Amino acid sequence: MREVSRHHLLLVTLHWLLAVLIIAELALGFFGLAATPNADPRKIGILQVHMAGGVSILGLMVVRFIVRMLTSRPADATTGYPLLDRIAPVSHYGFYVLVLVMAGTGFATAIIAGVGEIAFGPPGAALPQRSSLLGLSKGRWLSNRSDTS
Ligand code: HEM
Repeated sequence: MREVSRHHLLLVTLHWLLAVLIIAELALGFFGLAATPNADPRKIGILQVHMAGGVSILGLMVVRFIVRMLTSRPADATTGYPLLDRIAPVSHYGFYVLVLVMAGTGFATAIIAGVGEIAFGPPGAALPQRSSLLGLSKGRWLSNRSDTS
């Protein structure tokens, strides 16, 4: 591959687009989904946006990965500290894993609780009347709180 001094513009654009989308997805999850009871009719609309956003994030990550493989990249930047330089790829790939786990648990929740059909199927369907869809939501699992309802 030829030597370049900057990342491809498409790669940079996808990077920042994904950064914004992932932060928005997290905010929608914590402040929208987790804060809205299933009995609230607005929750289905929030779920539609959240699920479509999550699937878009996954799709864009695949596109970004392909662009990354196909385009030339500049040499790795160095911090001047060998230990930090060694940690950098670990945190980078760790972040990929974290996003994939979030999306994976979201898919699992949606499939197990039948949310796909409720949110995107014929109108009129209602969410199960529990405070969270599985009784153990992602946020509660992450913060080790138990759902007693
Ligand atoms: C980068 C991707 C994603 C992020 C960062 C994310 C983040 C979140 C967060 C923070 C919550 C709230 C957790 C809580 O209840 O405390 C949540 C809930 C949820 N997410 Fe995602 N999510 C992602 C992708 C997805 C995808 C792809 C789907 C399904 C197609 C999905 C489906 C759901 C569902 C159904 C819930 C509700 C869980 C419940 O109330 O029990 N998510 N998500």
